[in-house]
Amino acid sequence: MIKGFIFDLDGVITDTAELHYAAWKKLSDDMGWQFDRELNEKLRGISRMDSIKVIMDHNGVSLDEDTVVELATKKNDIYVESLDDMTPEDYLPGARELLTHLRSEGFSVALGSASKNANKVLKQLNAIHFFDVVGDGNSVSRSKPAPDIFLYAAEKLGLPPENCIVFEDAEKGIDAAKAGKFHSVGIGPEERVGHADIRFDTMKEATLFEVKTHFKDLF
Ligand code: G6P
Ligand code: MG
Repeated sequence: MIKGFIFDLDGVITDTAELHYAAWKKLSDDMGWQFDRELNEKLRGISRMDSIKVIMDHNGVSLDEDTVVELATKKNDIYVESLDDMTPEDYLPGARELLTHLRSEGFSVALGSASKNANKVLKQLNAIHFFDVVGDGNSVSRSKPAPDIFLYAAEKLGLPPENCIVFEDAEKGIDAAKAGKFHSVGIGPEERVGHADIRFDTMKEATLFEVKTHFKDLF
């Protein structure tokens, strides 16, 4: 039986990819590194430190760990400042409706995000009340594709993975859900999340009715 839902944040509840892109772009420009939207796609769902390593590898750059942390912090300062402009208008279409529906039907709901800024994003969206549990980049040390963040969220909800559906927009996020033996819903194109149990192009199509129809034996 499905009793709980675990949501990724960036790309599922709200589209922060553009803000992450702008902040990494500013840092890369300052450093003289090549960075474009194609490379930004590779950062979907992975932690901040893993992200900067992908960018440095792409540019053939190697620096000592303290400098890498300093640069990642610089990017984060730019990103966090840009979050000040986020408002409750910035849910991805369909996301607020689904969260509201899940609440009204009494499901348990958790966040399972790699972001250390998840609480700030939820606050800006006025979304904190939708979640029984917030698992974020501070909750576990191994990030996606390891299943740890989803296992953490499920454990805090008091549910085993087979009773939960994970919503994810990242390839590595679906990998993480599968590694943890969760049911999975992919949001995005086939080539990114086609390995999920069910896939929707956007959150708008991902209604509770559609999800229940697909997983009908589990409700
Ligand atoms: C999300 C995004 C990633 C980002 C990560 C860490 O998973 O999809 O692109 O790198 O969070 O975010 P943070 O806010 O901690 O830098
Ligand atoms: Mg995501």
